[in-house]
Amino acid sequence: MKVYKSVRSLTKKVFEIKKCNKAIGFVPTMGFLHDGHRSLIRKARQDTDCVIVSIFVNPVQFGPKEDFKKYPRGLKKDLEICKKEGVDIVFTPEPKDMYPESYATYINVERVTDMLCGESRPGHFRGVATVVTKFFNITMPDIAYFGQKDAQQAIVIKKIAEDLNMSVKIKVMPIVREKDGLAMSSRNIYLSKEGRIQAQSIYTSLKIAKELFNKGELDSRKIINRIKQAINKQPEARIDYIKVVDTKDLKDVKKISNEALVAMAVWIGETRLIDNIVLKTGS
Ligand code: PAF
Repeated sequence: MKVYKSVRSLTKKVFEIKKCNKAIGFVPTMGFLHDGHRSLIRKARQDTDCVIVSIFVNPVQFGPKEDFKKYPRGLKKDLEICKKEGVDIVFTPEPKDMYPESYATYINVERVTDMLCGESRPGHFRGVATVVTKFFNITMPDIAYFGQKDAQQAIVIKKIAEDLNMSVKIKVMPIVREKDGLAMSSRNIYLSKEGRIQAQSIYTSLKIAKELFNKGELDSRKIINRIKQAINKQPEARIDYIKVVDTKDLKDVKKISNEALVAMAVWIGETRLIDNIVLKTGS
């Protein structure tokens, strides 16, 4: 495994790999790797000849009052995980290499960024879209891997690849959960012991939604109300949003016909957590 710290050195290496006709699998991360990241790396390892993992806490996707400074970092352990998982290349650029002082270009994806996290975190997807586009240009992947936990992010990335005629294939892997159902996230580390228990209500409420749907409830408002009830029982919980939306364009769905995405963001104390579930007839 080799660690590349500069855009220039990795670009040179990627050209060599491409010359050998090797398929590149790319897993972008912000580090502090957990089993969710591992599942992406393992899939990339299965699918492709050369696995590149980026570890970069991208400053431009954080709002001014968000957790960029305190975002958990742990490069040593991350590198051990990457090595164990058979990663070929780890890319750990410096912010000034990605965004030099003269930097002026940002990617703005319309419509699918207007709602959900796009509404609560203005500018977030502009930052994600920009960094991922830059990474795609640097790593030239055949396949790039994203997690379903960030369902809106995955849709935004697919839109970029489609709209900008990129040849990269986007694979979205299922949510990996802790034993108690909490979706794996680097931010789970922020939770207090008590918060961690209260955070279980997020997945519990999504399971309630699935149960209701499986019993024939198609009215989104009723499903959302049941989720709200479950979450609001938790003293430290504050709902940011709970929505039932179309799985492709993320527009609100009033009555579910075939399938819909139930997506939510909830604050547990000072920690904002997101999660989702796809409701599908016959599943
Ligand atoms: O999902 C993440 O960790 C980040 O948004 C990503 C895709 C690595 C871009 O910084």
